Amino acid sequence: MVMTAKLTNKVAIVTGAASGMGKAIAEAYAREGARLVLADINAESLAQVVDEITQGGGTATSIVTNMAQEADVEAMIKQATTTYGQLDILVNNAGIMDNFKAVGNVTDELWQRVLAINLTGPFMASRAAIRVMEDQETGGVIINNASVGGLFGARGGAAYAASKHGLVGLTKNIAATYGTFGNIRANAIAPGGVATNIGNSITDPDPLGGQAIAATGSQTAPMGQPEQIANVAVFLASDDSSFVNGDVIKADGGWTAR
Ligand SMILES: NC(=O)c1ccc[n+]([C@@H]2O[C@H](COP(=O)([O-])OP(=O)(O)OC[C@H]3O[C@@H](n4cnc5c(N)ncnc54)[C@H](O)[C@@H]3O)[C@@H](O)[C@H]2O)c1
Repeated sequence: MVMTAKLTNKVAIVTGAASGMGKAIAEAYAREGARLVLADINAESLAQVVDEITQGGGTATSIVTNMAQEADVEAMIKQATTTYGQLDILVNNAGIMDNFKAVGNVTDELWQRVLAINLTGPFMASRAAIRVMEDQETGGVIINNASVGGLFGARGGAAYAASKHGLVGLTKNIAATYGTFGNIRANAIAPGGVATNIGNSITDPDPLGGQAIAATGSQTAPMGQPEQIANVAVFLASDDSSFVNGDVIKADGGWTAR
């Protein structure tokens, strides 16, 4: 039996590709034949991922990008068209956590940083990507890595929950407009706990926020691997999901089913 790669002839941008789920998504997309633009703020780790992929026979270029900076985001989208002449898939994956801060303990600085990276960055990237995809006969696909924190109240702090709920709303609006009246699908993934480097950023957990999360059974929640999320991202990028638009796929091992 001949197995065909699912993303042959596709060009994909993956943000936050230097670590965790972004890295796993980049590797999976490369295996499926996509040509990649990989973006991250961490230049050193990003270069390692690109080396790994190209040494394995994949096609990838990188651009150091701060998702909170519009000029960076615009340059990232442009790199796909200047390098490969097209952009078919945008994966807005880069994101940060917020130490589970309950709203009374959220500083303006924390609020603005989390919203800028987790929501405004994906908005700016989607806007720029759509302008390219609209002019392509084949349209395109946008995948936003949200979180179960984008569907439920106590899977992160206030800023994280607001940013990820916002990202789910952005996804549905893109789907309802550019999917319904165009050829651009948009879907989100809502992972539960996944073993990545993001946990290292929890250096000053908020007692009240932590208590609220613990009350959801987080201590005994299943822990996923980045590759399990990458499999969902391959599905959403490929024609296997051609009738899936505006959805949020939970991949949480059943944590929120309890
Ligand atoms: N790990 C989990 O349990 C979990 C659960 C649900 C959702 N998520 C979401 O998954 C996404 C990926 O997270 P991960 O768990 O793989 O974390 P990770 O920390 O392993 O990887 C995140 C990557 O994003 C990059 N990044 C951070 N700020 C950036 C910026 N301003 N511009 C560009 N890149 C930036 C980091 O350098 C890092 O390489 C995030 O959006 C996160 O909110 C994670």
